[in-house]
Amino acid sequence: MNNPIRPRRLRGNPTLRKMVRESAVNTDSLIYPLFVMDGNGKREEIGSMPGQYRYSIDKVDEALEQLMESGVMSLLLFGIPAEKDDKGSGAYAENGIVQRALRHIKERYPELYLITDVCMCEYTSHGHCGMLCGHDVDNDLTLELLAKTALSHAQAGADMVAPSDMMDGRIRAIRETLDNNHFETIPIMSYAVKYASSFYGPFREAADSAPAFGDRKSYQMDFHNRREGLKEALLDVQEGADIIMVKPAMSYLDLVREVREKIDLPVAAYSVSGEYAMVKAAAAKGWIDEDRIIYEMAASAYRAGADIYITYYAKELAQLIKEGRVGQ
Ligand code: PBG
Repeated sequence: MNNPIRPRRLRGNPTLRKMVRESAVNTDSLIYPLFVMDGNGKREEIGSMPGQYRYSIDKVDEALEQLMESGVMSLLLFGIPAEKDDKGSGAYAENGIVQRALRHIKERYPELYLITDVCMCEYTSHGHCGMLCGHDVDNDLTLELLAKTALSHAQAGADMVAPSDMMDGRIRAIRETLDNNHFETIPIMSYAVKYASSFYGPFREAADSAPAFGDRKSYQMDFHNRREGLKEALLDVQEGADIIMVKPAMSYLDLVREVREKIDLPVAAYSVSGEYAMVKAAAAKGWIDEDRIIYEMAASAYRAGADIYITYYAKELAQLIKEGRVGQ
């Protein structure tokens, strides 16, 4: 049979397959989200995220050591304060939970790279991502508090800040405040392409941050839209973002590709809590092969164009890669 073009020629041998592979999952670009909470002696498992915990600061070292042992060196920190109020004061308090956690981790593990989530929803009594005016979030009032929060994180030792609130103009506001306070070298990873997604459900249990009324659709994006995602990303580039994030990951890889093609900044994809929960649940039933599934999800994010992958499975992925149990 005359068939000169045979794609299978490049698939017949494992060494050859790896030689022609187009993308790779690598441990250096993994970021692990970690929840720290007020209190002492606490390590609480998150019900809808088996294997993920909320740690009080005195309990966090063990988790950090395991993470470093696997080779993952970057963290995305979330705080759960003991008290919440309508102004979200805990977000920008000098002795807030994230600020204390930063000082603790920086002192003990200076080799870890610490990124902080900058948002109000874990700190407000109403659970929205900013200051309320009536039943709506007041954009410009919120900008001041976000900038204050980012600055307090930088002062406490954050290496990078990652605003996740979706207010208009927050990247500019944060950049200006950081620059005016001699933190011009601190990068901003913007949750630029962030959708109002049900995939965040388990996170809201973890962070106790579900909105008390309404939803986040007046600030997070409508998931029917693609052009709007690009518009947000381009705006954040103009405002001074250093890294553009797309969130969630798995159902939004078209946006990862779109941003990759149009923007010359590193792109991060955040595989969120709902993605983790779905895999965990199916794996617990024995319906899927967890290791292979998480690796395939990661590889597809990189294939779509991500340079950075944020995942609750960071440690497991790093171990799988180290042991050569995936990607063969
Ligand atoms: C804070 C924030 C959220 C997530 C990251 N930062 C929740 C939300 O926007 O409702 C979600 C992370 C996840 O689901 O894993 N605004």
